[in-house]
Amino acid sequence: MFRWPRTIRWQMLLSLVLIETISIALFALLLVHHEQREAEDRAVSRLEHQASSLAVQARQTIVDERPDQMALAVKMEAASPSVSQARITDPQGKVLVAGSDNPQGGTLGAEELAQIGHIAGDAPLVFHFAGDRMESVRPIYIDSSLRGYAWVEDDRKLVKDQIADLLRACLFFGGAWIVVSTALAWLVARRISRPLTLLHAGTRSLMSMQQGGGDFPLPVTAKNEFGDLILAFNRMVASIAEQRAGLNDTLSLLDSMLANAPIGLAFVDRNLRIVRVNQVFAALTGLPLSRHLGRTVAAIMPAHSAERLEEFFRRVFAEEIPVAAEVEIAGDVTIPSRAWTWLVSVYPVLTAPGQVRWAGMIVRDVSERVRAEETLRKTEKLAATGRLAASIAHEINNPLEALTNILFLLRNFTTLDDAARNYVDMAEHEVKRVSEIAQQTLRFYRQSTLPARATLAELIDSVLDLYKSRLNNQSITVERDFDPQETLFCYSGEIRQVFANLLGNAIDAVPPGGRIIVRAHPSQGWCSSAPRGVRFTVADTGVGMSREVRERIFEAFFTTKESTGTGLGLWVSHEIIQKHHGHIGVHSRAADGNGPSGTVFQIFLPDDESLAPQTQAAAAEKQGVGSRE
Ligand SMILES: Nc1ncnc2c1ncn2[C@@H]1O[C@H](COP(=O)(O)OP(=O)(O)OP(=O)(O)O)[C@@H](O)[C@H]1O
Ligand SMILES: [Mg+2]
Repeated sequence: MFRWPRTIRWQMLLSLVLIETISIALFALLLVHHEQREAEDRAVSRLEHQASSLAVQARQTIVDERPDQMALAVKMEAASPSVSQARITDPQGKVLVAGSDNPQGGTLGAEELAQIGHIAGDAPLVFHFAGDRMESVRPIYIDSSLRGYAWVEDDRKLVKDQIADLLRACLFFGGAWIVVSTALAWLVARRISRPLTLLHAGTRSLMSMQQGGGDFPLPVTAKNEFGDLILAFNRMVASIAEQRAGLNDTLSLLDSMLANAPIGLAFVDRNLRIVRVNQVFAALTGLPLSRHLGRTVAAIMPAHSAERLEEFFRRVFAEEIPVAAEVEIAGDVTIPSRAWTWLVSVYPVLTAPGQVRWAGMIVRDVSERVRAEETLRKTEKLAATGRLAASIAHEINNPLEALTNILFLLRNFTTLDDAARNYVDMAEHEVKRVSEIAQQTLRFYRQSTLPARATLAELIDSVLDLYKSRLNNQSITVERDFDPQETLFCYSGEIRQVFANLLGNAIDAVPPGGRIIVRAHPSQGWCSSAPRGVRFTVADTGVGMSREVRERIFEAFFTTKESTGTGLGLWVSHEIIQKHHGHIGVHSRAADGNGPSGTVFQIFLPDDESLAPQTQAAAAEKQGVGSRE
């Protein structure tokens, strides 16, 4: 199938050849047509003249009665190059003399015979017959009497040869003209298309090149408008290269500013998809840079935080004004199960007034500050509770002493009967318990001096000794599984307090004949980055706890022991363990008649000597409490 060429060169050439071919063909047609008509006209007048001349000669030979002369005249006429045959006929059309090589020349054809009736007057007539035959006839009159006709037929071959020659000349000159003009046009097209091809290649290479390079400047191949065009193009390329260099410089500066900013930066487009983030932001989310791009905030952050951030972004796109907020995020993005807080400002990135292209987010990680504030608050709470408890215990001590003395005096009253004495015993027992609580409270705050290395024997065995009589009375077996010489850096008084609480609870929970297991082993913390320490287990075969109880045991004043418990034991233990940067966990199965019941407390305490400087202030503060007692 024919396809129109794509290059200017071939388009020009093809157009030229087409136009010239059509023009030359039209010209040749017109010329042939015109020449045919001219030849026709010439042939008609020539035939008329030849027929008239033959008629005059024939008339003369008839008048002279020289038939031989007539035959000669006819022969001479027929010998003329434009005549194919000449004849003399009588008025009825019978051929008297004929001059021709044609064997039919002796008879007049049916077409001629049919025309005889139409011949009138003395003027010559020209007839056109089928087969492109043309014949002229002239009547021969002698004294107004018609004696015959002189017929002369044209030789059409001559005209045809002339037309064919003309056509051949036209074709030859036309072809030569097309060839020469095409060759010229080829040269001109080459001069036009070469610089264009050069410019085209230059533009492509300009588009594809990132930094400098390319074959520039382009050679100026012509001293005309195209040469000027290439020069202008070269100047444009130089200016683009200059601008690119400037732009690259600015971009790399911007990139560096973004990457090295000491705050987290992230940008989102109108679909709330992240288009850019810096290293600090990636470090905050804990994901590599590439994992952010093209994703929504929801795909890289906990849902509730992402919702808030997306809300800010939408506001920025809608209102085109910055939003500043403190977003608290607790999640598994970076540090598992550890709350962290970001201070976030979201602002519009405008390309033109009223056109927000991106929303930018500036993030400052304030988790440490928030955590420190929280710790301070807790420490403050603990210290305040401690101070309160210590002062109450201190205040209670004096009346208690008086009460103990009074009860001692009362016991020695001889008038007391057995029942009254029994009540005094009970009162003394309860007062002793109150006194113990007060002492314990005071001791706890007095012992919180400085942390030191303590053996497990000091931490656990000393507490077991305290409970020896209760354990014996209730026939409770204690299984010890630890190396007494193993040491731990801690506030020994406080850790003893923890074991006293746990063992006290276990003794309360187990029925007579039950078992308590105390285990301690050096171990790693629950998260891989935690320091080494000691893992303690205090397990009992007691009544266990329901889920509702288990969920509340670390709350202050929560107890199921009604009159005998304060509900502070586990709360205080939990605070102490947190102060030591440790963990406490519990598993329990309540007695429900199906299978054994019991409770297992697990504690991890890091063997962390960095505990000392951090807690100096708190220790000093508590010493202050002690000295006020
Ligand atoms: N080993 C255990 N077995 C069963 N329940 C327990 C055990 N340890 C604690 N509990 C439950 O947890 C509650 C809270 O214990 P916590 O030590 O804080 O207070 P308490 O023992 O009731 O009172 P206090 O310790 O002041 O005497 C207890 O009342 C008890 O219901
Ligand atoms: Mg208790």
